Amino acid sequence: MPTSLPVKAGTSDTEQVRATARRRGTLLIVDDEEGARQSLRVIFKDDYNLLMASDGAQAVELVQKNRIDVAVLDIRMSGMSGIDVLERLKYVDPAIEVVMMTAFETTDTMRQALRLRACDYINKPFDLGTMRSAVANAMQRRTLESEIHNNAEQLQELITELQNQKIEEQIANTRGEIYASIIHDINGPLTVISGFIQLMNQRFGNATRLETEDLEFLKDRLKIITRQVTNCIEISRRYLSFLRRQPDEVPRVGVNQLFADLTHLIKVHPSLQHNDFAIEPLGEDIGVRVNGTDLIQILLNLTVNAFQCTAQRHRVNIKGCALHEALDLTAFKDGPETRFLNVERFINIAPLLQVSVCDNGPGIPTEILPKIFQPYFTTKGARQGTGLGLNIVQRLVKEAKGALHLQTRVGEGTTFTLYLPAARLMR
Ligand SMILES: Nc1ncnc2c1ncn2[C@@H]1O[C@H](COP(=O)(O)OP(=O)(O)OP(=O)(O)O)[C@@H](O)[C@H]1O
Ligand SMILES: [Mg+2]
Repeated sequence: MPTSLPVKAGTSDTEQVRATARRRGTLLIVDDEEGARQSLRVIFKDDYNLLMASDGAQAVELVQKNRIDVAVLDIRMSGMSGIDVLERLKYVDPAIEVVMMTAFETTDTMRQALRLRACDYINKPFDLGTMRSAVANAMQRRTLESEIHNNAEQLQELITELQNQKIEEQIANTRGEIYASIIHDINGPLTVISGFIQLMNQRFGNATRLETEDLEFLKDRLKIITRQVTNCIEISRRYLSFLRRQPDEVPRVGVNQLFADLTHLIKVHPSLQHNDFAIEPLGEDIGVRVNGTDLIQILLNLTVNAFQCTAQRHRVNIKGCALHEALDLTAFKDGPETRFLNVERFINIAPLLQVSVCDNGPGIPTEILPKIFQPYFTTKGARQGTGLGLNIVQRLVKEAKGALHLQTRVGEGTTFTLYLPAARLMR
């Protein structure tokens, strides 16, 4: 029987043991000889909180019920052997430090004990100093290990907290960017709407009656305005549904129909001015798995940039084709006159849609090329450009798992080529 605390200590006893353990460490002495237990008790009673067990089963039970830092364990006991007890103690509490007391054990037994992570062994009969320092070392080791463990836990908590904060921050940033993008994208249709309303005001502001041809004119313009209003609603709906993380069902849209819609938009866009513009339908129509508004938005941003690149009269062309082979990506390298975006997430599987927006404007100087996709980078006056257009293009291309290639030469012009995963159109 144990000679110290009762094995089945009540809750309050156990709590008391735990509280004391926090202050001065708890030592468990496991030996089936009463004499040995008593002498160890005398040695350690002033230094540690002591628990005694006279066999393996009691020892295991005590470790289950108490936080024990170090056990001094006799290797040779009747019943469960010291090696078995060691294994079970380590199973119940892997962090417990165990000092084995040995007599004439074989090296094999010793090796086994060390393999089971006993921290030290002392020959019986032991001398006082050796025993004291073995237990003190084991206690120190245990304290250090639990400190390391606590620190690691705290560090992990800190890392998780930081990561959460970073995610929150990213969400806040994305939210801001998305609101800015809505305003940017809606600005195009709004400009068209406001232009038409001004025109109608000029023509009919003072009219007292309308002729038939005036009515035709009005109906026609109202149709365009309605389309632009629908566009605004579509743009904000798409961005807001992205914010709510409900990606729209992505329908398969025919590219030639999108080209026709784009042509309507560009024809009435103020930046067209006196420039030459041509859009060539695909010889073989194909479908793309992107939101139609997204593709129009990408091409519109690129085309408006192409119009705005110089005040001189110049040419802007849009043309495309279906590719029936994947791209050879080794041919696309970033350089002083080229950029290739989203190579990591591009689904390079045929069929692909290839559309290029090409201008013979001034080109993009090497020194600003790395910056043009950054949000708010613009070379236009503050009242003319927000610098968001290409950033939006980049985001939409990524979302569609497409890629964007840019080739430019100062004095000759710029071509943006868009690649998107495509699919045959159902007839
Ligand atoms: N086709 C092009 N030719 C020459 N420079 C271009 C061309 N396209 C883009 N750029 C350069 O890239 C910059 C960034 O374009 P982006 O569309 O992001 O913003 P922005 O056109 O300046 O402003 P916003 O799109 O808000 O009107 C432009 O200011 C311009 O300097
Ligand atoms: Mg732009």
